[in-house]
Amino acid sequence: MRPQEIIEKKREGLELSTDEIAIFIKGVCDKSWADYQTSALLMAMFIRGLSDAESETLTREMLYSGEVLDFSDIEQPKADKHSTGGVGDKTSLLIAPIVAACGVTVPMVSGRGLGHTGGTLDKLESIPGYNVKLPTEEFRRIVKTCGFAMAGQTEQIAPADRKLYALRDATATVPYIPLIVASIMSKKLAEGLDALVLDVKTGSGAFMQRLEDSKKLSHALVETGVKFGLKAQAVVSDMNQPLGQFVGNAHEIYECLKILRGESAESANATAELSIELSARMLILSGIADSIDAARALVESKISGGDALERFRKNVGCQGGDQSVCDDPEKLLEKGTHVREIKATESGFVSTIDTLAIGNALSEIGGGRVRAEDEIDNAIGYECVARLGDEVAAGDTIGILTCRNADQATRAGNKIATAHAVRESAPELPPLIHDVISA
Ligand code: URA
Repeated sequence: MRPQEIIEKKREGLELSTDEIAIFIKGVCDKSWADYQTSALLMAMFIRGLSDAESETLTREMLYSGEVLDFSDIEQPKADKHSTGGVGDKTSLLIAPIVAACGVTVPMVSGRGLGHTGGTLDKLESIPGYNVKLPTEEFRRIVKTCGFAMAGQTEQIAPADRKLYALRDATATVPYIPLIVASIMSKKLAEGLDALVLDVKTGSGAFMQRLEDSKKLSHALVETGVKFGLKAQAVVSDMNQPLGQFVGNAHEIYECLKILRGESAESANATAELSIELSARMLILSGIADSIDAARALVESKISGGDALERFRKNVGCQGGDQSVCDDPEKLLEKGTHVREIKATESGFVSTIDTLAIGNALSEIGGGRVRAEDEIDNAIGYECVARLGDEVAAGDTIGILTCRNADQATRAGNKIATAHAVRESAPELPPLIHDVISA
């Protein structure tokens, strides 16, 4: 069947058969479909829509376009967490060691940062020597030794998504739920998991800014997981301000180590709270705890007892990193950097924070990537001093930007300053967790 026949059928709003979707995905992978034909079909799907059956078939074909990891020789339950991405969203770095310390294996395949969002792999690479490029066998060995490993997607995992996501990004076809679900779930299902917790962000720094959209995406992700035999749950969490104390790769590892060491600042509480919640839900889905209170208590005991820190240290060693950062997290923060304090220009209450603008401002000076090929500068970081609802006086410090030079301080600092709106009356504060969506 020629690509134009499949494109024409979807263009006319008709439902594609399993065979037609399989031909499409095969054509994407073996390059027999030209990029313009793939893009045309993606746009037709975006405009005409996909039925539930088409979405499920698309997910399945994308999943089996590559290898599915097999951890059936590990007796422990296997679970992971996936976040739709945000600013200062560093929970993976805590969840993996915590959940592993509770007796669940976590084969975490993570991503890199792009645009305003950060990526777990970039954060980990700020630990000297830490290697995230693990061949499948090495990944399996570390998962077995440490209870978890954190690595990038290999060429063999859901290769169709790699191609489709790049074309969707270039053709304005990303924000359509069935395509997002097929993209995320094809990668997660390839990890060979028993359970998956999805952290779907909502708010000014989220990929889905409106709560209704985030809930719809959560339902679709959970339903798809269940159709494929996965125990799945979604937590809709707030991204109307950066999560916790710091934004920036080395700074976020620092914040997590401080939490694991029991030395964190109060402003890191949201990071700890959300990580505890997501970890606890992974334990319930994995059958390790039978109530949320018991799960939270187990998680908290693994942090306060130091087990999670020891797991993290072991993993850093296994992945070639400098374990001494676990004893001395300050080592992660580069010395001799340029610091700019961001000041409130009026008195009142911090009523909105344009989180997207903060993420972009940091990426533009090297704290993240504007283009996929950009280099990251681990010296760049931002401390969120004022939170939503805080009362400030004109001239108070609301944030601290760490960068390389005065030019960066001006460029990013001014954008971060204008990303904060201060009003006379106190705003209604968003909850950290808006909803929990179960099957
Ligand atoms: N993240 C993904 O992996 N895929 C999407 O389509 C959107 C966000």
